[in-house]
Amino acid sequence: MISNEQYVRLSLEANLFFLRIVKEHAIFAAASLPAKYAPTSAQFVSMKNSLERLLSRTLALSHGNISSEVMNSSELVTNLTLPAEKEVQALTGIPVNTAITVQETNLGYRDFYRQGGNIVQQVSALNREIIRQVTSAINFQSNLLRQILTCKAFSFVYPTNLDHVTREARAYVGLLNSLENKQAEDISVKGIIEQEIFWNEIMDEHAKFIRGYLDPSETKLFKTADNFADRLDALEAATVALRNNPTNLTTVTNESRELVTDLRNFKRQGTEGLVACKIKAIMPALLADHVTREANHYLRLLSTFKA
Ligand SMILES: [Fe+2]
Ligand SMILES: [Fe+2]
Repeated sequence: MISNEQYVRLSLEANLFFLRIVKEHAIFAAASLPAKYAPTSAQFVSMKNSLERLLSRTLALSHGNISSEVMNSSELVTNLTLPAEKEVQALTGIPVNTAITVQETNLGYRDFYRQGGNIVQQVSALNREIIRQVTSAINFQSNLLRQILTCKAFSFVYPTNLDHVTREARAYVGLLNSLENKQAEDISVKGIIEQEIFWNEIMDEHAKFIRGYLDPSETKLFKTADNFADRLDALEAATVALRNNPTNLTTVTNESRELVTDLRNFKRQGTEGLVACKIKAIMPALLADHVTREANHYLRLLSTFKA
């Protein structure tokens, strides 16, 4: 069982990170559909609007309630999130509530837990509403993916990317469900291994998405992304092998930290290049910033595993 203090902090930290992630998935999905699917695209935009309202609600409860580790991890926003949002809004016509990002940049972190008010009830109501909305987003995306895989619909997003975003959203719903049951995160060896398998696979797919969204003339960046994909394939295999031989966990955790730090730096440079219009790709800068934040989130988790 976790304490009320942990419940509030862990819930708000998860919501600040994942709500932004899930709402950006909706932006990318909306932007990638051909004109014929305008109604589907509009549904993604309205889903994004609802998720932004939930993010605002989270933010209103978060002042003074989240840890300095999360605040300083660059998993919630980076210094490139705002310019990347402005760019995606201007180039795709999909509205983005950038005021949330400005507020979030100025969010203070927790000095002490304020027991006052009915914060536990407010967080619980928020979590249950998020579980409902994110589950419906998952169903909507899974349904679109099924149609794409049977050639009944078309999108410029890779099918694997649609599957990838639903796995991230499912992990979020799973986390909120365990928090609602006041369960502590599974930090047993087995629990850590499953987390590393999940996130190393996510990182591996990021390298492959970046490789695939680069213009063919970007040969140097293509080779770098391809090299990351090869190294992450090997790391992922080593992580899966931990299920049978957990004694290598420390080695694999250290390798993960090193490789993911390099990948995160590559993603951040890519975001800078895209924001400055110096890289040719079919990928908005916001997607590059998005995968950078996901790497920062995973790097923070890895540091807690070490502790
Ligand atoms: Fe994502
Ligand atoms: Fe991702």
